[in-house]
Amino acid sequence: MKKKRILSGMRPTGRMHLGNYVGALENWVRLQGEYENFHLVADWHALTTDLNTDDLHQNTIDMVIDWIAAGIDPQLSPIFVQSQIKEHAELFLLFSMLISTSRLERNPTLKEQIRDLNLEGRISFGHFGYPVLQAADILIYKADLVPVGEDQVPHIELAREIARRFNGLYGQVFPEPEAKLTKFARLPGTDGKRMSKSVGNTILLSDPPEQISKKVMSAITDPQKIYRNDPGHPEICTIFVYHQKFNPTHIPKIENECRSGALGCVDCKRDLAQRLSDFLYPFREKRAELEKDISLVEDILHQGAKRAREVASSTMAEVREAMKLGVVSW
Ligand code: TRP
Repeated sequence: MKKKRILSGMRPTGRMHLGNYVGALENWVRLQGEYENFHLVADWHALTTDLNTDDLHQNTIDMVIDWIAAGIDPQLSPIFVQSQIKEHAELFLLFSMLISTSRLERNPTLKEQIRDLNLEGRISFGHFGYPVLQAADILIYKADLVPVGEDQVPHIELAREIARRFNGLYGQVFPEPEAKLTKFARLPGTDGKRMSKSVGNTILLSDPPEQISKKVMSAITDPQKIYRNDPGHPEICTIFVYHQKFNPTHIPKIENECRSGALGCVDCKRDLAQRLSDFLYPFREKRAELEKDISLVEDILHQGAKRAREVASSTMAEVREAMKLGVVSW
């Protein structure tokens, strides 16, 4: 039986943090034997919120190194850069005819972005339409599944609508993709808020042990646990969330000893820092290997683009034929 296909995408945000790992990468790695995976670096999407492209190349390299360090096998699952596959732009243009502006305005994820970034009345045309570009990213590979977080679900719904519309008008070309939600809720940053590069509360997959330790030791815990022997409340402690994820076998002990006051925050954090450091050790090794020779990464992206382009150009041939575009034999 043919393997189902997955398209995973992320904007090139540079080095990955534990939040990216738990929220996306870990899932991608887990899914990669069972399905046929395509991994997209969405560099055009990055332009929607940042027109300064000085760091784009480095951010792409850094992110791709972390993907591989985290366990994505580029032989098995091609990794490629969106802007290298021009067919995405062509399909985006065609899809943009199939969707109304009022439908795009109803997209809650976009509404939220407009509010958060203060873009009321001055959002760019490209930013406004980026969910349509995302639909093209997904449908051009005829992906069955798209691993995403909750916030991206409206975009998958939009891709499904566009697929239905296209198929209804021009004949069956696209399957309707489904969102594959990540199980683990968002990982808090060292300040207890959502982990995010822009907030500066991240722990990076590439952080050396000293850095991990420094960040963990300065993270907030239960504000009511002031003295070592004060009873703690694991349910409100950021460090405890990390233990749940990265140190699950010790959870009952940590929970009991924190509650009783037998375990102090300093010891609890030291234990976690050690765990994280051990966990990330193979990531650091792999990263060091790739950093020694960046042409390895460029080669991976080149090979990935070749494989992606094969699929994308064959889908586009089908699309043009279905839409009777570019027929010159009159
Ligand atoms: N829009 C996604 C984000 O902002 C990134 C993305 C682009 C994507 N194309 C995709 C995600 C295709 C999944 C599938 O994070």
